[in-house]
Amino acid sequence: MKIAMIVAMDEDGNIGSSGELPWRLRSDMLRFKTLTEGDGYNSVIMGRKTWDSLPDEFKPLPERANIVMSRDTNWNADGADTALYVGRAIEIAFAEGSEECWIIGGSQIYEMFLDRVDEIHVTTVHVSSSGNITFPQWDRSDWSENVIEQTIADEDNDHATTYSIWTKS
Ligand SMILES: NC(=O)c1ccc[n+]([C@@H]2O[C@H](COP(=O)([O-])OP(=O)(O)OC[C@H]3O[C@@H](n4cnc5c(N)ncnc54)[C@H](OP(=O)(O)O)[C@@H]3O)[C@@H](O)[C@H]2O)c1
Repeated sequence: MKIAMIVAMDEDGNIGSSGELPWRLRSDMLRFKTLTEGDGYNSVIMGRKTWDSLPDEFKPLPERANIVMSRDTNWNADGADTALYVGRAIEIAFAEGSEECWIIGGSQIYEMFLDRVDEIHVTTVHVSSSGNITFPQWDRSDWSENVIEQTIADEDNDHATTYSIWTKS
């Protein structure tokens, strides 16, 4: 099973603002959907706060096993599996028969999985100072970047973006 990470961050590494996404980027949302859905049997692992931030109509994220990390043994939600620790989250994804398991944030969950992934899909949003929640410290010296696509701002996308796949070298 491949374990990959996907994130959109601004030029300062900001990923969220007061529990929400700081921008509206339709092209990035569509890419996120396509990549994480894959063949319809993939898993996504997220933190409880990211789960809470999803609009009700998108919960659980369809066509994917939704695995939510919480330290609260009583936490549960329709359509989500709860994991109390990293190994358990991976075990659930594996048991689901997923070929791909996507780490979809937020900051606390990215930090726990950074040394477990070999591929990070990064959308760099060309704006700065857009939030108060940041991607964790990431030493990119061991990683190489492959730029895949650049987009411009338009009525559906607040900012220009660069989409890259980073792989461990
Ligand atoms: N730009 C992006 O690509 C992107 C992607 C995802 C999210 N976001 C943004 O990121 C923000 C949320 O990120 P966040 O860092 O505040 O929260 P988060 O990582 O989504 O969730 C944090 C929660 O995860 C659980 N958790 C943390 N460490 C754990 C551990 N060791 N074992 C088990 N559970 C653990 C805890 O849940 P309990 O409190 O229930 O114990 C904790 O409160 C939002 O603004 C969201 O919009 C941005």
